[in-house]
Amino acid sequence: MSRIAYVNGRYVRHAEASVHIEDRGYQFADGVYEVCGIRGGRLMDEELHLARLQRSLGELRIAMPMPLSALRHVVREVVRRNHVQDGLVYLQVTRGEAPRDHPFPAKQVPPALVVTAKRLNVARIEQAVEKGVAVVTMPDLRWARRDIKSIALLPNILAKQAAREAGAYEAWLVDRDGFVTEGSSTNAWIVDKEGRLITRSTGPDILTGITRMVLLETAQREGIEVVERPFTVEEAKAAREAFVSASSAVIIPVVRIDDAVIGNGVPGSITLRLREAYARVGLLS
Ligand code: PDD
Repeated sequence: MSRIAYVNGRYVRHAEASVHIEDRGYQFADGVYEVCGIRGGRLMDEELHLARLQRSLGELRIAMPMPLSALRHVVREVVRRNHVQDGLVYLQVTRGEAPRDHPFPAKQVPPALVVTAKRLNVARIEQAVEKGVAVVTMPDLRWARRDIKSIALLPNILAKQAAREAGAYEAWLVDRDGFVTEGSSTNAWIVDKEGRLITRSTGPDILTGITRMVLLETAQREGIEVVERPFTVEEAKAAREAFVSASSAVIIPVVRIDDAVIGNGVPGSITLRLREAYARVGLLS
């Protein structure tokens, strides 16, 4: 069965889906994106993702490509046409097609919209959850507006590749003062010796992860104390537990940071409890 993508008004075979060479996303990375999880054929936290998409677009003065209700319909249709039960839907909006020139196009052009969906290898995620993963730390080389979910991901890609080459799952990015900002495509969390959950506060330094938002609420409901503040690499290495969060896999436990083993070297109990509690929320919402 062939995959189907939505591209600028049409549902097309994924293999043949394409945009113009002068799409500003292609030439300037002038656009934003969203990734929303699909569980049991249903979209996870859809409204939060659409709200963040609107915010990212607003910050860059790119118009919504269509009304929200129509966008919801397109997203559902792409999920349906691809028969995805467990996976991801990807939305990308760029400033549109125009002759290459740095300023915004003088003549208004419609923003370009691409929506795709893909299945996730659930068994592989579960294996990572069971065993935990390693992360490596490296300098955060990104721009100063990481709260915008921009498609300009070069520093993230270089960091992730370096992590993979080091045999790690993720790179934890570190600011000039030695504090962890987040992962290259995930938010970063630790649990301290007192059992407090710690993650960096939102602002321009990190992406406001949707999973992060829902996990904060989940933790509060579970009676787990949460502190939103920066933490250093040293603090992380001495933590009782650590994990990363993202829409793709919700929570993946971290059992090694650089050469330091975290806790007992196995996924932590608070981490796993949160993951389970989130799954319950996800199924109900
Ligand atoms: N990444 N931080 C960064 C830099 C990210 O790219 C992501 C998501 C997150 C987690 O956000 P959320 O919980 O909303 O997925 C944090 C997506 C999955 C990606 O780039 O594929």
